[in-house]
This record gives sequence, structure tokens and C-alpha cells, in this order.
Amino acid sequence: MLTDRFRRPITYLRISVTPRCNLRCVYCMPPEGLPAPRDGELLTNDEIVSFVRAAARQGIRRVRLTGGEPLIRRGIEDLVREIAATPGIEEVSLTTNAMLLAKKAPALTAAGLTRVNVSLDTLDAEKFRRITRGGQIERVFAGIAAAETHGLTPVKINTVVVRGVNDDELTALARLTVEHPWHVRFIELMPVSNAQEWGPGFPADGERYISVQEMHARLAHLGLEPAEAPRGNGPARTFRIPGALGTVGFISPLGEHFCQTCNRLRLTADGALRPCLLMDAEVQVKEQLRAARDVSPRLLEAVSLKPAGHELLQQRYPEARHMAQIGG
Ligand code: 5AD
Ligand code: SF4
Repeated sequence: MLTDRFRRPITYLRISVTPRCNLRCVYCMPPEGLPAPRDGELLTNDEIVSFVRAAARQGIRRVRLTGGEPLIRRGIEDLVREIAATPGIEEVSLTTNAMLLAKKAPALTAAGLTRVNVSLDTLDAEKFRRITRGGQIERVFAGIAAAETHGLTPVKINTVVVRGVNDDELTALARLTVEHPWHVRFIELMPVSNAQEWGPGFPADGERYISVQEMHARLAHLGLEPAEAPRGNGPARTFRIPGALGTVGFISPLGEHFCQTCNRLRLTADGALRPCLLMDAEVQVKEQLRAARDVSPRLLEAVSLKPAGHELLQQRYPEARHMAQIGG
């Protein structure tokens, strides 16, 4: 079993398979996008799989593929298949903007993917286009429908809540769970290289953040009851609208309880281990993987560097990468 200095079991690996994305959400990427990866910069499927094998030998049990947008990586189905077949790995899931999900759901299921988390911040087509700088909301709903048809369930929906952008839709988004067995999770906006202007009509840095306490209070009229969390609901506090098929969760990265149960390690697409999403420390593994050397010492080093918690409240913010290069 892999445990860190604070006795937290580390069983969950998030792999960003590409920093590229077919959308450019205002809180995740600069409007011009990120520089294209250079040739050879990103890990190959074989390199990722050999890392996963080493990680599984150390005690990693669940893997989540993120990006950027994981579904734009060529050969993503092959990667899912190989990771799902790795001894010790019990579950492979994926976080996606769902632009390509309707097309890829059958192949992903066949490859052994367990389920998907879909990012969706609004129910308004025009607002969706503005937040994502060009996305089509119909494709998200088509993607969710395909995920359900092909058994990539339970579907979780990640909503980043931003004051003055989508906080007027908390009720409507929560109510999706009444008739759909979806798990909507409201996430506090994290300050990860997104302090710049987002464009006309968007609030300035310092005016965007809403705490989960405020979100919860604003949903009091729904009569939310504490509920059992669906499998793998991570740091979400989970509730249910009485009688609803799905649940409503709140994720508070800035709040104090988030870090106490942290069970994760992150691998970036260019081969760095991040002990913490919200701190810049990294341990490189690309050269080890390229040279077919044992990566276990580096993996253990990354685990040993996991901090007790982030230091955002002490004004120490991660600056080295955009969210799309870490994977959320
Ligand atoms: N704060 C909170 N969540 C974020 N995500 C991306 N950037 C941020 C941020 N700054 C979310 C995406 C996606 C998940 C991978 O991370 O919306 O659902
Ligand atoms: Fe792409 Fe997701 Fe970032 Fe939006 S939040 S730009 S969909 S990676």
C-alpha cells in the first residue's frame, strides 16, 4: 500500500494525456490557447502504460484520464484498453468536455472504460459558447446520452461556479438530478493561472469566486438532504433533492476538508508527477520512462512530497502551468 507522510493512502492516479483542447474555457486557458507541444514532448501510449504498471505495483488502483481534452488524443481507446488490462487497476474513468463523446462512447466502452465525468457549466447555449469560447452545448447532451446508452455510468457533471457567470443557474443545474440519474458537482473556482481578464462581459479577478457554503445556502429552498456519495465522488460532499434520481455535490478545493482525504497523484502529459494540483512542485519521469529505467523511486519521491494541504489561503498560488496542462 502506498501512503504519504500524513498517512493518506495514495490509490488514485490522474493522467493528463494532452494539454491540448478543442475548447478554451475562460478559467482554464488563455484565449489564444497554449503553445502546441513539440515533437517528442508528450509521453507515448507505451510510456504512459509502463508508468501505470509501475504505479499499480505500488498500490494505485484507479486511473482517471484528463487533459486538456483526453478524447482528442489519437489512440485514446488503445490507451484505455491497455490501462484497463493492467493488473491491479480496478477502474479507468475519464473527464471530458463531451464534444467528441457521442462519437467515441462505443469504442471507449469496448476498451474497458468504466465511466465519464462531463464538464458543463451552464444550460444556456449562448453562455456555453462564451464560457468555452466556441463550444456547442448540443454536443454535450448528445455525449451524455451516448455515455448512458453505452453504460459509462453513473455520469457525473462538473460545474465550475463563477459569480456573475453561472451562479444564476445553480437551481436549474441542481434540478437536472430530479429526473436524470446524474451526479452534478458544483466546484469552487480555483486560482490556477487564470487571474487575467477573461473578455467582455466576464467579471474581474477577485469578483468571480463563490464558496460552497454560499452555493449551498442559495440552494436551501431545494431541501437538500445528505446522501450517500456515488462511487468515486472524491472530495465532494453529497446531497439529494428529496426523491431525485441523482445527487448534488459540492467540491471545495479552497476549503479545509479537501486536502485531508487526498488520495491522488497526477502525471502530466509531458511526463512530470505533480504531488499536488495546487502547488508547483514536480518530479520528472519522462527520461526514466524513455530509458526504460525503473520509475518507482521517482513515484515514491513524488508521494513523499505531497503537502498536508495547499497554501492558497496564504496567497501561495501555482503559476507554472495552466489548468489544461495539469488536468484538474
Ligand atoms: N477551477 C475549478 N475547476 C476547474 N476546471 C478547470 N479549471 C478549473 C478551475 N480553475 C475543471 C473543469 C473540468 C475539470 C477537469 O476541472 O471544468 O470539469
Ligand atoms: Fe478544455 Fe476542459 Fe479546459 Fe474547457 S476546462 S478548456 S474543456 S480542458
